[in-house]
Amino acid sequence: MGTGPSAKRSPHRLATVGAIVAAAGSGSRLGRGSKALVRLNGRTTLARVLELFLALDEVDRIVVVGPPSRLENAEREVASLSPRKRVAVLAGGESRQASVRAGLAALGECDFVLVHDAARPLATAALVRRVLAAAMESGAAFPAIAPRDAVKRVEGNRLVESLDRSRIVLAQTPQAFAYELLARAHREAADAGLVGDDDAQLVAATGHAVTVVEGEPANIKLTTPEDFGVVEALIKEQETAAG
Ligand code: CTP
Ligand code: MG
Repeated sequence: MGTGPSAKRSPHRLATVGAIVAAAGSGSRLGRGSKALVRLNGRTTLARVLELFLALDEVDRIVVVGPPSRLENAEREVASLSPRKRVAVLAGGESRQASVRAGLAALGECDFVLVHDAARPLATAALVRRVLAAAMESGAAFPAIAPRDAVKRVEGNRLVESLDRSRIVLAQTPQAFAYELLARAHREAADAGLVGDDDAQLVAATGHAVTVVEGEPANIKLTTPEDFGVVEALIKEQETAAG
């Protein structure tokens, strides 16, 4: 190896990786304003997610797509962590998809991109590494867990079909993609008027294979008021385990 800036990196660290933190939602189901700025056990979900990516050697730079009306709060959260990586903060869009698209543009060209919900403060470094490694193999990967309950398709209040649970997974973030592939998926979705739930859906719509990796049951997305106590208890548990 040479003596350039990459010399201290391990060989598999030759790819540049950017992370997009989707934090621009209004948190209407939780009812406490922006979920990125909700405090759990004293710290915001945004700060927790940023700490995860700042601590990961694999991640080179970060873009936070924040709530337009509270952008200064998001900027303050970033500044309070004294980040030693480039962290940009910008306003998100009307939909999660629009927010991620804005994040991609701000991130600029890199080899791989991670997209993560600010509302999932319990994701671990091991999970990020697992998803990223799979994306480095196949170009696109997301984590998922098996549903605990029986899964049904309904129309109104009528059962239409009982689905084979072994063929169903519940998708999480972080999701990881080759940057060019995700950028193309967002362009094609915009052109086709496709609005997807997540980035894996948009990439799959391009025809590119998307790999599923094992998610984490504790990687809950803070969504409803019932989640609040559960997520906070899990954070306390994680913090106790970490000492
Ligand atoms: N998100 C975003 N931009 C949007 C909408 C959502 O960046 N226009 C982000 C949220 O901040 C969140 C993630 O996408 O971290 C997952 O979305 P969701 O759980 O639906 O969050 P909200 O949209 O904030 O919540 P709600 O749907 O209850 O209003
Ligand atoms: Mg939403």
